[in-house]
Amino acid sequence: MLACRPGGFYVDGTLGAGGHAEAILRAAAPDGRLLGCDRDAETLEVARRRLLPFGDRVVLRHAEFRRLPEILDAMGVETIDGLLLDLGLSSLQLDDPERGFSFQKEGPLDMRMDRSRETTAADLLNRLTLRELASLIARFGEEPAARRIATAIVEQRERRRIETTTQLAQIVASAGGARAARVHPATRVFQALRIAVNQEIDGLDHLLEQAVIRLRPGGRVAVLAFHSLEDRVVKRTFRGLARRCICPRDLPVCACGRPDLVRLVTPRPVRPKASEIAARLRAVERLGEAGPSGAIERPDAAGAAAGRSGIRDLRKAPRSSRRGGA
Ligand SMILES: C[S@@+](CC[C@H](N)C(=O)[O-])C[C@H]1O[C@@H](n2cnc3c(N)ncnc32)[C@H](O)[C@@H]1O
Repeated sequence: MLACRPGGFYVDGTLGAGGHAEAILRAAAPDGRLLGCDRDAETLEVARRRLLPFGDRVVLRHAEFRRLPEILDAMGVETIDGLLLDLGLSSLQLDDPERGFSFQKEGPLDMRMDRSRETTAADLLNRLTLRELASLIARFGEEPAARRIATAIVEQRERRRIETTTQLAQIVASAGGARAARVHPATRVFQALRIAVNQEIDGLDHLLEQAVIRLRPGGRVAVLAFHSLEDRVVKRTFRGLARRCICPRDLPVCACGRPDLVRLVTPRPVRPKASEIAARLRAVERLGEAGPSGAIERPDAAGAAAGRSGIRDLRKAPRSSRRGGA
């Protein structure tokens, strides 16, 4: 999806165990480079070992992807050829009961991807007011029974502090969460807590915009999202970047100052096989070239000037008829 090429500079903002990073480095052989970051120091160590054979083609950082622009600045890297975000948890995190992400295994209610941060899921569960808990579960878990579940949590914690994954799963199940859904009742509550503990949605849109600005023409940003809240942010941000310019299409250089920055490579999300039904892949590709004035020139301007695509006043055109609309 990143259309890697030799010599390119790629960024994997969610390195995990390094599987995608390895594939990128192979596709960009022999001299393509990769900056990989992960907020989980233990996972990063696994990736570091895996990527050792690639030597100095790889640079790794223990960091949140929100910090990528400053990391790139510190490395003196102005433009990139691609960014991949494979959001969510790695199997290393999900399968380790000590991390507290799975309600199927007994473990502490931790849920921090970065264990150097302070607040755990147990802290939130035992500290937030009824109203705050209900709002968190409704907002990040999209759970219709949020108020009922929050009430059950507050009642239980008055008797005994809630510390473990299975304790919480039982409270949610007895409060009747996610009754109509095919998923386990605790799925949405665990998702909500995980998003809150790790502030997973904060700054995602800003990072995508920053990455697109740094992309070389033809470079791509691809995001794999596993829940609809993240996917909504990605969709909205990509669409906004793809539909900025309001100039007539025959102008060789954007005059409105809002050039379309990208085209949607995936006007509709790509959904992998049924077993991974929640995953949605979206990607955009940077358009244009920096002209002599620094303005972004339209890739289709030459065709329009030669009369191939005709004059379209996009100020009057409905937005849905514009390039990349979906
Ligand atoms: C689904 S896994 C990535 C798997 C990886 N693509 C691979 O091939 O092994 C997601 C990873 O992203 C990390 N992560 C999630 N949100 C992050 C963020 N805001 N900043 C940095 N890393 C993040 C998690 O710690 C986890 O290791």
